[in-house]
Amino acid sequence: MIMKPIAHSPHVNLIDGRDAAARLRESLKPEIERLKAAGVTPGLAVVLVGENPASQVYVKNKVEQTKQLGMHSIEHRLSDSTSQEELLALVNRLNNDPAIHGILVQLPLPKQISEAAVLAAIHPDKDVDGFHVVNAGQLAVGEPRLVPCTPLGCIHLLKGLGINLRGLHAVVIGRSNIVGKPMAQLLLQEDCTVTIVHSRTPSPELLVKQADIVVAAVGKPRMVKADWLKPGAIVIDVGINRIEENGEKKIVGDVDFAEAQFVASAITPVPGGVGPMTIACLLANTVKAAALQHGL
Ligand code: GUN
Repeated sequence: MIMKPIAHSPHVNLIDGRDAAARLRESLKPEIERLKAAGVTPGLAVVLVGENPASQVYVKNKVEQTKQLGMHSIEHRLSDSTSQEELLALVNRLNNDPAIHGILVQLPLPKQISEAAVLAAIHPDKDVDGFHVVNAGQLAVGEPRLVPCTPLGCIHLLKGLGINLRGLHAVVIGRSNIVGKPMAQLLLQEDCTVTIVHSRTPSPELLVKQADIVVAAVGKPRMVKADWLKPGAIVIDVGINRIEENGEKKIVGDVDFAEAQFVASAITPVPGGVGPMTIACLLANTVKAAALQHGL
């Protein structure tokens, strides 16, 4: 992990997620070659239902990066009016397709489709999102198999700092099944003391102020202010918020980076922090799933 000093703030370290993601992808190459030599090309199927513009960008990036690593990639684009039965039939076909080791159904789904029903239909061994209750349960009991990509990416970034995480107080802001809950479980696995702060927590800033590590995953632009942070805290910003400011479209995190950078000892920017790691971890999960399914 490379940490670059921020030009106007030499005491603060920027955590470079693009660089870390490139290293993680590079580290997958020998494993992909090993699997190919054994006759297995790891394959990822990405399913997009509807026209959500953000989802279209994510899916395009996922497909491109899968191909760049020499993996097998297929993409299914279905219309906004797709029924739950049609989507479940596709998932079932992919579950039974031996060329496919990972299935990712991009969320959110149109309202006529139950996300829970679709996630439950993906075979746990092909669940590269780590959202199936079997994989969530494995993580909860401390025996992780396929782990959700965004929290996994955050742990990679923290480990890349080269510090001992044991006993550190980590405060996770947000309790979603996609990020907050699995993030808290992974930090527990690293022997952190973990607090989860959420929308019903009175005075969240008082808890965040005690944190050695802050992981913000709420989806509220610049919610975490500099004066919420303990000086020297490590800040991981999962937020990807699209805003318009002074007539300009921008993507900002859940942390007010402009001020937090002067208080944190290390901080992820948005964009260029957690985001690139999420896709790299998806590729890592697909390679892992292929090895698991073939006992390699
Ligand atoms: N939508 C936003 N984040 C994610 C993710 O990690 N996986 C899937 N499948 N959909 C998402």
